[in-house]
Amino acid sequence: MSQNTQKVFTPLADATPYTQPGLPGARGLAYIETYGCQMNFSDTEIVAASLAELGYGFTHDEAAADVVLLNTCAIRENAEQKVWHRLAQLKGRKRRNPDLIVGLLGCMAERLKKQVLEDAPVVDLVVGPDAYRDLPTLLAAAEGGQKAVNVLLSREETYADLAPIRLNTNGVSAFVSIMRGCDNMCAFCVVPFTRGRERSRDVASIVRECEQLVADGYREVTLLGQNVDSYRHEGTDFADLLARVAEVSPLLRVRFSTSHPKDLTERVAQALAAYPNVCNFIHLPVQSGSSRILEKMNRGYTRDWYLDRLAMIRSYVPEVGLSTDIISGYCSETEEDHQATLSLMAEAGFDSAFMFAYSERPGTLAARKYPDDVPAEVKQRRLAEIIELQGQLSVASNRREVGRVHTVLVEGTSKRSVADLCGRTDTNKLVVFATPDGVGPGDYVQVQITETTRATLIGSIVERP
Ligand code: 5AD
Ligand code: SF4
Repeated sequence: MSQNTQKVFTPLADATPYTQPGLPGARGLAYIETYGCQMNFSDTEIVAASLAELGYGFTHDEAAADVVLLNTCAIRENAEQKVWHRLAQLKGRKRRNPDLIVGLLGCMAERLKKQVLEDAPVVDLVVGPDAYRDLPTLLAAAEGGQKAVNVLLSREETYADLAPIRLNTNGVSAFVSIMRGCDNMCAFCVVPFTRGRERSRDVASIVRECEQLVADGYREVTLLGQNVDSYRHEGTDFADLLARVAEVSPLLRVRFSTSHPKDLTERVAQALAAYPNVCNFIHLPVQSGSSRILEKMNRGYTRDWYLDRLAMIRSYVPEVGLSTDIISGYCSETEEDHQATLSLMAEAGFDSAFMFAYSERPGTLAARKYPDDVPAEVKQRRLAEIIELQGQLSVASNRREVGRVHTVLVEGTSKRSVADLCGRTDTNKLVVFATPDGVGPGDYVQVQITETTRATLIGSIVERP
């Protein structure tokens, strides 16, 4: 799943404290900060639902909050380091306001469990990803001055019946969680330990959530799971689910993340081709281009298998947008393995990639079996080469777009200039274009690409709604 590498604050739709008893906010104000993958951002919306039921309102002003929650990531060591720094800052705030409740949620909470309370006494609440239903009880205990912990993992919890509160919304795109946990046991990955066993959410509740989103004016959903291709609920597999969601409304774009090369089926590629509103974009983490390393990563495929999957996908969707994840410097990686990664990148022609240096995570298969033996400077040098190559591939991929016309779903105003709008192509490329009157978020427009930067396409509207 794609990762946000920098700290991301959650801007909240409504920072106004409500004061009437019985209304949201009567109990106090919560501030939630989210780190890590899209699944964490989606979980924050579940946490918000749980807090709102309790009577909490939300603020994006940390100083105004009665409860500060950090929804954390444990995937690499630096993700945890950021949170330790935040906890150190919160110590000062709590000294000034001893009633402040500080909670640690998510994967780091799950991984470190009670140890957090010893190492960071500022923390009152430690809640793992499957325990958000227990937040009312845990918060009540914390408000009473006790430390509260629930890090139980579940085999069933999907929060199917909790309507997420979309704190961070642009009103156009929404995440919809379709499954939780992961059974793959990739050797480098801590996720199976922090998010537990894989389980799929029932189809009807997913379809209902998407129908409601359309009724509320949303025009894009991203179906989320650690490995969406192994979705299965009472005979419905992921390809069937894509079809069901695509049929909710032709106005609704359907995206999904993350796919796994070993499980991605031909039927999924066929669904991309068959439904115009299922986006022609796949995030397909490869991790390495060396079959020897892939085997040691326990990924369940070889280099050739991966390239073969790409050929299969492109046979149905020739212009598919493709992104990936790559790890440099995994245990025992040689220069030859690294070269294999670079050559695979060029052969695959990824449009974009998330690239990381290997970070050993305690308890994982790799940490137990293989020494973390690639020196840090070698990992970094290889990572720099991977990033450099991907830069070239991304530029080339963007240049090919010049002159083409894309259907773009308008998301909002551009970060660079409020006079411009931005949105995405079906293939997930960001496009910036001048705003004509009467076009706004949620509209589909035809945009011709006129120029590009490394990360963005620039165009002008040739046809409006
Ligand atoms: N070190 C570095 N990168 C990792 N990822 C997962 N675990 C690690 C680790 N221990 C990367 C993988 C995965 C993405 C979400 O994060 O590339 O696909
Ligand atoms: Fe981690 Fe592999 Fe599961 Fe992704 S598929 S969450 S990398 S174990």
